[in-house]
Amino acid sequence: MRPGIVLFYFFFPTVTKGCCGKKQQRILTDQLFLHYKAVEGEVFAMPCDPSEKSNVKRAEAGEGKTCGEEFVAKVAGANRSFTGSNSTLQVIAKSSLRCFKPEESSVMLLVDAGGSIPCPGHACYNNTGVVWYKKNRPVSIARDSCVKDGELHLCTVYKEDTGVFYCDRRITEQGVAWIFRRAVHVKVIPYLKANFPPVVKYPAANMSEEVELGQPHNLTCEVDFDFEVNISRKVEWFVNYGGDMDNMTLLDTEQHHEVSFSETKVTQTHTMKEVTPQHLTHAYTCFASNAVGNSSVTITLKRKKQVKWPSLVGYPFGCFLLVICLGIILNVKWVELQLIFRSRFQFGKDDGEKEFDVFVSYVWTGPSAEAVNGLTISSRPYSDAGEMQSREEPIEMRLPRVLEDQWGHRVCLLERDILPGGAYTNDVVLTINRSRMLICVLSAEYLASSDAVFVLESGVKALLQNSALKMLLIWTRGTSASFIQPEPPLPKLVHRALKVLPSLQWSTDTPSTATRSFWVSLQKAMPADRARLASHLQ
Ligand SMILES: *[C@@H]1O[C@H](CO)[C@@H](O)[C@H](O)[C@H]1NC(C)=O
Ligand SMILES: *[C@@H]1O[C@H](CO)[C@@H](O)[C@H](O)[C@H]1NC(C)=O
Ligand SMILES: *[C@@H]1O[C@H](CO)[C@@H](O)[C@H](O)[C@H]1NC(C)=O
Ligand SMILES: *[C@@H]1O[C@H](CO)[C@@H](O)[C@H](O)[C@H]1NC(C)=O
Ligand SMILES: *[C@@H]1O[C@H](CO)[C@@H](O)[C@H](O)[C@H]1NC(C)=O
Ligand SMILES: *[C@@H]1O[C@H](CO)[C@@H](O)[C@H](O)[C@H]1NC(C)=O
Ligand SMILES: *[C@@H]1O[C@H](CO)[C@@H](O)[C@H](O)[C@H]1NC(C)=O
Ligand SMILES: *[C@@H]1O[C@H](CO)[C@@H](O)[C@H](O)[C@H]1NC(C)=O
Repeated sequence: MRPGIVLFYFFFPTVTKGCCGKKQQRILTDQLFLHYKAVEGEVFAMPCDPSEKSNVKRAEAGEGKTCGEEFVAKVAGANRSFTGSNSTLQVIAKSSLRCFKPEESSVMLLVDAGGSIPCPGHACYNNTGVVWYKKNRPVSIARDSCVKDGELHLCTVYKEDTGVFYCDRRITEQGVAWIFRRAVHVKVIPYLKANFPPVVKYPAANMSEEVELGQPHNLTCEVDFDFEVNISRKVEWFVNYGGDMDNMTLLDTEQHHEVSFSETKVTQTHTMKEVTPQHLTHAYTCFASNAVGNSSVTITLKRKKQVKWPSLVGYPFGCFLLVICLGIILNVKWVELQLIFRSRFQFGKDDGEKEFDVFVSYVWTGPSAEAVNGLTISSRPYSDAGEMQSREEPIEMRLPRVLEDQWGHRVCLLERDILPGGAYTNDVVLTINRSRMLICVLSAEYLASSDAVFVLESGVKALLQNSALKMLLIWTRGTSASFIQPEPPLPKLVHRALKVLPSLQWSTDTPSTATRSFWVSLQKAMPADRARLASHLQ
């Protein structure tokens, strides 16, 4: 673009007065010519046959060039025909022309003034009878104009005159009449030189642009320039290290521009691949200049204020989440929580009026209690303390005896103390209600027995119903809450209760100190007054 500008011709109003205002003879434009010549590389449009206007429309669907359509004449030599016209075109090579000056093919005209357009080859051809066209129309019909010595004079130039003009010369070669058509690019301009210095539209002076650390950022400068023929406009970005205005370094930039009739909008962009904290310490200057003057704007970068998640969204949302979680936990663990509270703290009134102190529930499938008792008594009669007992005696047998005989509790054993004949479930519920405490001696056999599990379940239900019951689980023979997988599966309530109810572990393998601590813990867990009584008795 830029080198081309040098090649433009300029015509000033004083030259253009020429023939304007004088009477012009009308040129016959209906004349038909069959043979056209154009110069290779120049724009050409074949005039349409005025008597066959309908051809133009019909031809649009067809192949090849249509009359009136502008195109660049290329291959020299061959004749071309056009739809909508009886004429043919012969393209001639530039090199075969008598005189060819490329600068003659474009002209700049000042708007609102008169302007003239010479027909290329002015000096080498007979310029009599030159006819000018713009597109398919003779200029003499369309415009206030005149032709003098082949040169077109437009009495007033308008913005809309920008475009291609054709001048047709009539020549005769070996008896054949030709129209030799040349093209001229006309550009209408507002003025030759800029009148104003550039105006920086963006950024504003001394502003701080918000950036995000670690993110790419574009430094963008938008500048308006006045039109000028010889382009002098320039936009640059500089970095002022540490904000020092005397230490400027040029930054590499990219330019986009948008040209309108009287001004050019330039957008100059410097791309930062990643904003670092260092960038925030510098200042950045956009400098714009043209032939008239210059203007510049200096800005700084600042961190974009992060929208605080916790304060705006996080806090209420977090609370909401917490409440939901608590709700879920409470919902899931409500029974466990109730059992923990009720089994550790005495609800309901324990007035000691109940019939039994302890209801001991167990399942023993080994030798009968009497047999075991007989065996242990005969082999090694115990004196006073539980830990002195025989290792062979199961806890199921020993527990009731210790509670009853040694500690003086009123113990209830289903098969011993409840009269047969009643409904089992009824008996169990009644017995639990008549007891201050329920001790379940748990074993694999116990948890596999539906009758025994029913006792346990009834106890848990009674506990949940705010009765004054105490419950204690005694795990025996390697069973514990985490391993139980009995067949059939335990009721859900029992399963959950097993994990939270107070429990003691009994093991026959444990050393005597562990056994002693078991009895001590058991004693502590017993209903208060009776326990005191028992220890007093000891
Ligand atoms: C083109 O047409 C002209 C005029 O009819 C003729 O003299 C010339 O030989 C033609 N050229 C070609 C290459 O056909
Ligand atoms: C164009 O050519 C066709 C056929 O050669 C002819 O019929 C027609 O009259 C011609 N048109 C003109 C305007 O000469
Ligand atoms: C230019 O052409 C016209 C007719 O077209 C003719 O009368 C005139 O003599 C020619 N001029 C020269 C210098 O050849
Ligand atoms: C543009 O520059 C060319 C070459 O330097 C010069 O001849 C021409 O006068 C300039 N045009 C304007 C309008 O300044
Ligand atoms: C920008 O800052 C400079 C130096 O601090 C000051 O001279 C100038 O007037 C300021 N410009 C605007 C538009 O505030
Ligand atoms: C920065 O500008 C380039 C082109 O100049 C563009 O591709 C990129 O998307 C822009 N980046 C940002 C963050 O605007
Ligand atoms: C400009 O700043 C750069 C980077 O901080 C430093 O290397 C250079 O020496 C400075 N130049 C002057 C003239 O202060
Ligand atoms: C910018 O213009 C001022 C006058 O407005 C001039 O003093 C200064 O030298 C110019 N700066 C550049 C870099 O051309």
